[in-house]
Amino acid sequence: MLRRRRVEPAKLRSPPPIRAPRAGSAAKRFGGRDVASSYQTGFGNEFASEAVPGALPVGRNSPQRVAHGLYAEQLSGTAFTAPRHANRRSWLYRIRPAAMHGPFAPYASGHAAQPRFHNDFGDGPVPPDQMRWDPLPLPQAPADFVDGLYTMAGNGSPAAQHGVGIHLYAADRDMRGRYFYDADGELLIVPQLGRLRIATELGVLEVEPERIAVIPRGVRFRVELPDGPSRGYVCENFGALLRLPDLGPIGSNGLANPRDFETPHAAYEDVEGEFELIAKFQGHLWRAPIDHSPLDVVAWHGNYAPYRYDLRRFNTLGSISFDHPDPSIFTVLTSPSDTPGTANLDFVIFPPRWLVAQDTFRPPWFHRNVASEFMGLIRGVYDAKAEGFAPGGCSLHNCMSGHGPDAATFEKASGADLSKPDVIRDTMAFMFETRAVIRPTRQALEAAHRQRDYQQCWAGLRRHFAPPAR
Ligand SMILES: [Fe+2]
Repeated sequence: MLRRRRVEPAKLRSPPPIRAPRAGSAAKRFGGRDVASSYQTGFGNEFASEAVPGALPVGRNSPQRVAHGLYAEQLSGTAFTAPRHANRRSWLYRIRPAAMHGPFAPYASGHAAQPRFHNDFGDGPVPPDQMRWDPLPLPQAPADFVDGLYTMAGNGSPAAQHGVGIHLYAADRDMRGRYFYDADGELLIVPQLGRLRIATELGVLEVEPERIAVIPRGVRFRVELPDGPSRGYVCENFGALLRLPDLGPIGSNGLANPRDFETPHAAYEDVEGEFELIAKFQGHLWRAPIDHSPLDVVAWHGNYAPYRYDLRRFNTLGSISFDHPDPSIFTVLTSPSDTPGTANLDFVIFPPRWLVAQDTFRPPWFHRNVASEFMGLIRGVYDAKAEGFAPGGCSLHNCMSGHGPDAATFEKASGADLSKPDVIRDTMAFMFETRAVIRPTRQALEAAHRQRDYQQCWAGLRRHFAPPAR
């Protein structure tokens, strides 16, 4: 029989740790490993997990009576009739259905009357300038993950189900007695400072910088900060679910390999009290009272689930002859659009790697793209910028805005000795690349941490043109 615990109102701020399966029971069912500290592996697999033995129905999804008095609930991530290869849904077996909570009211963040987390990308002119920002300062006032979200930019809309919201977070305390879900899109979370412990309906993900987490649209969760003050990036994908890119002539292996994606085992909280459920719905935040933890899924199966991935496992490929390849060679995950080969969102990384190409300019070349690029830096130095792009900072190069290596990088690479290989160590940069123009928010344009002199990084590029004398 499940044990229930009544939490008094005065103690409601800190739910107890989520329960993982007991070793020896569920562990035996799932291959004898300690499921409390392990994950299920694979990308988009048909996973199955139960934190209490016998909780998962066998041979059907919705029995007349679910074992142990649980409720059955389906969570759909794609249309019921989506093609089988793209169809995502999971069945959850939980203590109470997700329908059970109070009415929603508009949410005002603890920072200001106007939350800094929203999807107001504006409809006015977008400056075509190249832009760059210093790291988002850590919070002045206490802020958890939700209150610490700060919207930088975006495009499209949740209503249209395409585009992205690009956010930063800077938080210094756990979400206590508060749970969050995003009905507008899946969340790609990229920590830069401090670990995140993300307790979700479907289990617990732990991610440190250089790992990423993806929380599906609608999945409820709360975030703890084991290392205290934490910072990072979040891409909110309004479009098609992130998937692994096709590999084409690369073949059947390489880039991000499916077996390196990790999905948690079932784990649940069984607590009651005066809690708060925060929803992001159609670009705005809402709050509702809830008298129990919504992380009460005891067992689940399906292919719609949160996952994590270690960016250090990315099998980086590149030129072994000449010419830097297009950066699409570094794509970890992609959200396709309705136009083949033209992504709603590509998540691209620039990890440590060898540079061996001969008779060539080894760093990224100067370029203008039809796609728009938002970059961040998790650690180290990005190889196209000698200075000014700090870990935790970000840059925006929109459609057809020229950019590339700064003057110092160009001069160094133009004179480098190419007879020797070079290695880029201690770095992890990334890019959210989108087919549509990325519109910075007003708060990002006016931010004190925006580098208004960013374009000066190219001012030192000297004229070298010397036509032959006639
Ligand atoms: Fe670029």
